[in-house]
Amino acid sequence: MTTPDTAGSARDLFRRSYGAEPVGTWSAPGRANLIGEHTDYNDGFVLPFAIQHRTHVALAPRGDGIIRVVSTFDDSAVEVPLSDLDALFPTRRDEVVEWARYPLGVAWALLAASGTPADEVAGVDLAFASGVPVGAGLSSSAAIEGATAVALAENWGLELDRVALAQAGRRAENEAVGAPTGIMDQMASMLGRADAAIFLDCRSLDTRVVDLGFEAAGLDLVVIDTRVSHSHSTGGYGDRRAACERGAAIMGVPALRDLSVADLARAAELMDDVTFRRVRHVVTEDQRVLATVRLLSEEGPAAIGDLLVASHASMRDDFEISVPELDTAVDTALAAGAIGARMTGGGFGGAAIALIARDRVERLTDAVTAAFAASGFARPSIFTVTPSAGAARDA
Ligand code: GLA
Repeated sequence: MTTPDTAGSARDLFRRSYGAEPVGTWSAPGRANLIGEHTDYNDGFVLPFAIQHRTHVALAPRGDGIIRVVSTFDDSAVEVPLSDLDALFPTRRDEVVEWARYPLGVAWALLAASGTPADEVAGVDLAFASGVPVGAGLSSSAAIEGATAVALAENWGLELDRVALAQAGRRAENEAVGAPTGIMDQMASMLGRADAAIFLDCRSLDTRVVDLGFEAAGLDLVVIDTRVSHSHSTGGYGDRRAACERGAAIMGVPALRDLSVADLARAAELMDDVTFRRVRHVVTEDQRVLATVRLLSEEGPAAIGDLLVASHASMRDDFEISVPELDTAVDTALAAGAIGARMTGGGFGGAAIALIARDRVERLTDAVTAAFAASGFARPSIFTVTPSAGAARDA
């Protein structure tokens, strides 16, 4: 869990590593996605929110043109001349230790996006401390990217708005890290608001703040981290993305966003069963996001449970990205009284979310913990998340 002192850890690490005081700390949150999974890179709709867990970075400028990074979550420190970033990314990224590709990739993408030559900005020392659980499907990566982006943009005086900062984060993830992800996580981390979700059209990048009203309805949003770790740089994530692109090409549309439920009958005739089911997940998931936004405003959060459950079933059966631990988490949460539950994030591990009355959270926690033990799964980590503000300079 984030304690108020993750910022303090970043500052302490800074002093220990560099023997100097930082000029400030900046931070960005992880995210949970309420609904809209694997729709972002299909130009579709998503409804994520930033969580209270944040990654903090302490920073000070340097007199030369070197960028140095250290973190509390990896022993390796890296230093690179800013003028070398262009040669490293994307082709020689393997020369950089994996965790450092995130902040260095953001530095590279920010300079490119703002058209700033590397020799026109000061070098920087950065020290990171993460309060976002890593590998839990809560986007610890977007939190590092977001913290780096706001810290560097301010120090370098770059005129980039929040969407441009999110895009730099995504570019780092795609090209410097090599994970073919969409824009959802970075937008959520950059634009998050307290007690609200961000409704995002991933084609236009238009956003709308959607009130969640969990507090007023007496509901909690519980995260069940299965501890099954996953990586989106390899394997399943890229395969799913490729299947979506194949499906769109067969249907003759730029992206699956352009299909409606009425097109599915024709899709079933034109493509193999696996591709069709991948397409059906995305097309129906887009509709579920729109329905969730509508229900939240018309009836409130207690009304969205069936949509969450349908989303999980679609990911389990059509998109095939769930794992037994996630299914057990969802089924047990529902049996323990959750209004709705689903896996959140890219899948193949990570976390499930459950929406449940506050006075039943303990019952859910006990039931899920017991069900995992009975199945021989690792002990899950279960905690409540609160929709929170996006990336910012710390006070
Ligand atoms: C990961 C990616 C996102 C998105 C989700 C699935 O979190 O980083 O871009 O594709 O998976 O919805």
